[in-house]
Amino acid sequence: VDSLLTGTAAILDFLTTHEVFPSGTELGLLPLTGGVSSDIWLATGAGHQVVVKQPLADLRVADEWHASVERSGSEAAYLQVVGSLVPGTCPRVLAYDPVEHWLALEYLPPGSHTLWKEDLLAGRVGVGVASAVGDRLGTIHRLTSAHTELADRFATDDLFGALRVEPYLLRVLERHPEVADEVDAVVAGLYGTRQALVHGDVSPKNILVGPAGPVLLDAETAWWGDPAFDVAFCLNHLLLKCLLPTTPTDTLVRAAYGLVGAYQPHITWDDPEAVLTRVARLLPALLLARVDGRSPVEYLDEPAKQYVRSFALDELRSGTDGLGDLIATWGVAIP
Ligand SMILES: Nc1ncnc2c1ncn2[C@@H]1O[C@H](COP(=O)(O)OP(=O)(O)O)[C@@H](O)[C@H]1O
Ligand SMILES: [Mg+2]
Repeated sequence: VDSLLTGTAAILDFLTTHEVFPSGTELGLLPLTGGVSSDIWLATGAGHQVVVKQPLADLRVADEWHASVERSGSEAAYLQVVGSLVPGTCPRVLAYDPVEHWLALEYLPPGSHTLWKEDLLAGRVGVGVASAVGDRLGTIHRLTSAHTELADRFATDDLFGALRVEPYLLRVLERHPEVADEVDAVVAGLYGTRQALVHGDVSPKNILVGPAGPVLLDAETAWWGDPAFDVAFCLNHLLLKCLLPTTPTDTLVRAAYGLVGAYQPHITWDDPEAVLTRVARLLPALLLARVDGRSPVEYLDEPAKQYVRSFALDELRSGTDGLGDLIATWGVAIP
């Protein structure tokens, strides 16, 4: 309890030192839930609320999974860069302490914002939301691709490797040696493609839908690399939710198409077909990773997992479907 109180006092001190609140403000801290990789608090004072986030050294997932707390610096930098290039796409950064790794953010309150994941799980898919996500992702990738100086700031291969490539793709490669060559090619493609600022965790649990559209949270895996990763990562979440009885497959498939349709016109940094082909190669590897990787989906039963495995292995082995065909095949064959 003592160290908790000391920690709390230090956070309050951080907030007033950075003038997030005037000094002398009576501040209260309440833990917010929903994070797996950080402690998150809501700080309230003088009728004003902000979020404070601090990364954990060990992530709260079933399998052992360590990650350097330096990822907090990537997140602060991503939110600052993207927030200034595309205002409104991320919560505003109010202060950052690079020693303690405390990040103070604009609070997007539940009265006007809902977590997209909650809507999706309740069957409220929002094809318009998916299109808006595609549009925003495309805007972020298009605008950052012109800022090649960001490559040095986001040279985060170590973090991206530890948080994405190893637990998702290398894990799949280990568990499914029959597609080792295909998954290996996907990994090589990722590391060989350096085109834009990638968020790395575009999941519905990191998207708050507000009055001005979807807002992206949680940029700890920010990486200068292959933008196809963000598109595939988000599509992966949409496709997997088709296996839930509560969510209508046809609407989710339309949402997936909506996302891709809104994203595609932004692809100016490369041949659009080449980018979408990389998405189509990544997607089955990521599907497989969510059943046999280190971060398995919590909501699928064994027959559903078996369906994902056989679909993904087929797609990886044949490797011929374009992105549109892949989504269509998934939608038609879903049990
Ligand atoms: N700026 C914010 N405004 C409102 N809620 C937030 C904000 N940032 C985070 N949250 C809530 O806290 C949860 C966890 O935050 P997130 O940044 O995703 O942490 P983690 O890295 O632990 O997943 C989010 O899913 C969201 O519900
Ligand atoms: Mg999160």
